[in-house]
This record gives sequence, C-alpha cells and structure tokens, in this order.
Amino acid sequence: MKKLSIRDLDLADKRVLIRVDFNVPLKDGVIGDDTRIRETLPTIEYALRHKAKVILCSHLGRPKGKSVESMSLRPVATRLRVLLDQAFNESENVAFSPDCVGEVAKEMARELESGQTLLLENLRFHPQEEANDPRFAKQLAELCDVYVNDAFGSAHRAHASTEGVTHFVPQSAAGLLMEKELNFLGKVLAAPDRPFVAIIGGSKISGKIDVIDNLLEKADTLLIGGGMAYTFLNALGQGTGKSLVEADKIGVATAALEKAKARGVKLLLPIDHVLANKFAADAKTQVFNGKGTFPDEMMALDIGPATVDLFAREIADAHTILWNGPMGVFELAPFAHGTNAIAELVAANRDATSIVGGGDSVAAAHQAGVADRITHISTGGGASLEFLEGKTLPGVAALTDH
Ligand code: 3PG
Repeated sequence: MKKLSIRDLDLADKRVLIRVDFNVPLKDGVIGDDTRIRETLPTIEYALRHKAKVILCSHLGRPKGKSVESMSLRPVATRLRVLLDQAFNESENVAFSPDCVGEVAKEMARELESGQTLLLENLRFHPQEEANDPRFAKQLAELCDVYVNDAFGSAHRAHASTEGVTHFVPQSAAGLLMEKELNFLGKVLAAPDRPFVAIIGGSKISGKIDVIDNLLEKADTLLIGGGMAYTFLNALGQGTGKSLVEADKIGVATAALEKAKARGVKLLLPIDHVLANKFAADAKTQVFNGKGTFPDEMMALDIGPATVDLFAREIADAHTILWNGPMGVFELAPFAHGTNAIAELVAANRDATSIVGGGDSVAAAHQAGVADRITHISTGGGASLEFLEGKTLPGVAALTDH
C-alpha cells in the first residue's frame, strides 16, 4: 500500500502537525535515552527547510487522561532545542504549549512563523486522545493545514492523534522515520534477501507466538532462544527443571514445531544452557550439555557456548537477519554472554541487512556496543511486533493513499 510521504507535500508557509513518538524514558525531569527524539530530527529538519510552521505532538507515558507533571513533555522541548541547534548549527526556536488543544495551543499555532517549531504538551493528559474522540481529533486538526505521522512507535494505536485526526485534514502523510521503518520492516516480510534468518528470544511465547507464526511463512531459518525456548523444549519432551515453562502454551509450541517442519523452515532451539540455582547475579551456575533432563532445582537463564556456535553458522550465512528478543537474562552479567555473542554475530555479518526490533534486543545491541553496525534499529516496540505479526497498523492505514 503506497501512502503519501512528507516529500509529496507542499509545506511552504503551511502549519504542519507532526505526530511524533517522544515517549522517552524520563525520571525526575531527566531524559534517559533521547534516541526517539534524535530519530525524528530528519523529518523536523526537512519540514523546517521547506519553510513549514512545525507543530509537534506526542504522548509520554500512560498518565490515564490526567495532567501529570512527571509526564510533561517540557523537558523534551528543552532537549529538542539543543538537538536542533546542533543539527542546524544555529539557534532554533522551539516553543512549548502547556496544552495540546484549547485557546493557548490555537493562539501559539496561529502565531507560528515559517521555520519555527512548537511542541504541544502530552496528548494523553486528555482522555479523549486514547478514546479516539472525534471532537478532540478535530481540535487537533484545526491547529494545522496538513498532517504528518512520524510516530512509528505509536502506529499500532488507533488514537485521536494517530488515526482520528486524519479524518479532519485534507492530507495525511508519512514522515521520514515512519517511511524508513516501513521500508525496512516491510522488505523483511515482503521480499527479504535470502537466506533470511530470524532470531526470536524473550521470556514468553505468549507475546510472540503471532510473530513466530508469521515468520514461519517468511523466514528460511528461525533461531529460538531466551525463556521461551524452554516451553519448546518441554513440548519436545525434555525435562527443564525450574526453567520458565508456560504449561498452557505447550500445544502452541508443538503447533509451531510442526508448522516449521511442514514448511521446510529450519527451526533451531538451544542445545546447551547456562543453568542457575536461582534468578540472581550471585547464583550458582553450570553449563549443561545435551538433551537430558535438567537437575530439578536448576533453571536455564542463558544459552550455552555450543548453541552460540550453532546459531553463529546460520547468522554468518544470512543475507537478511531479523532479531527480536534476548537469548537470556542479559541484565544480569552471568547470563549476558549468549545475548552479547548474538549481538556481535549479527553486527559482524556485513553482507546482510540486519534489523533489530523490540525494546530488550535494542537495549542488548547497545549494551554489546554494536548498535552502529546494525543496518536498522527500530524505534517501535509494540508497533514493530504487531507489524511483524502481519497486522495492519491503524496509524499507517489512516494515511492518504498515494
Ligand atoms: C511505545 O513506547 O511502545 C509507544 O510509545 C507506545 O506506547 P504505549 O504502549 O503506552 O501506547
């Protein structure tokens, strides 16, 4: 589905409402990671260079329809001023409206001049945002001449600022970040360069089964690690001690194993494991080889070295690599090796297009220091998962067709 891009719009002297995802980690007014802000700079810069009057809107956190000071976007405006200053090499003017709708926002939007930016306060301070209330969406639309959605991370939400607003503006286009995300993730699903190796990890099958199911129709090889691997191994009859097993998902795991076989997809599970006597950094650990039953009192918290070698061969031969979810409890040093090794291996394959999606694997890529060697790191957590499940994202569907 071809959607209008910001590059198709005439922006000069127009008030452009850009929905961004500035849902950044914020503690005591300090931004922990500004990646999501930096990733929208190309779109903001593009609009400013084309003499638009830029109005930015976003949510931050889950304030449940109330004004919550700790979730104000004001610190984001401050950071944006610094980042735009660095990018443009001149002092840019970023105004901040203490409300996203109402008289103040209207007045500030009206007074905006070409090449200036206005950031609106957190959309979710109004319950109408998440309720996708048409009157609220119309109020947002009244601030602008055209609408751009650059918030890939929120595109799976049918909210007033991502979906509703498009019914009240003449044109709705994708921003540059939105386009980039859709291009990378879209190509993986539609026409990946082969071999296409998908690495799926994380603690539970429940949140990922639709992704696994969809990838079994697209990928050549599926490497499964992390806590979810133990439900699969259990489904194959292996005793897994105290490892995390979702008893109610054993049938689902069996079905996935059968689907892989039927479709000729190589589905590989860990062949050795780092076992621990408790879920803690000071646990007693041992590497457990083979297919036998784990000692009763032990749980697997990481993949072992033989599994890393097994996965390494597949990753080295891949032309497309998609990675979602860690291989173990990478936040605890004794169980970080498997995840770090996979991060290194993905980054080392310079012939492949490598895509990392999902909060934990993105954090792992940063922790392993390989993020700059990954082709594309998605800014979407839930949104990238839903996209990989093959679902239509409402924020994308709502954009104007080309
Ligand atoms: C995210 O961080 O995944 C997006 O900003 C969406 O946030 P939400 O899950 O609170 O809707």
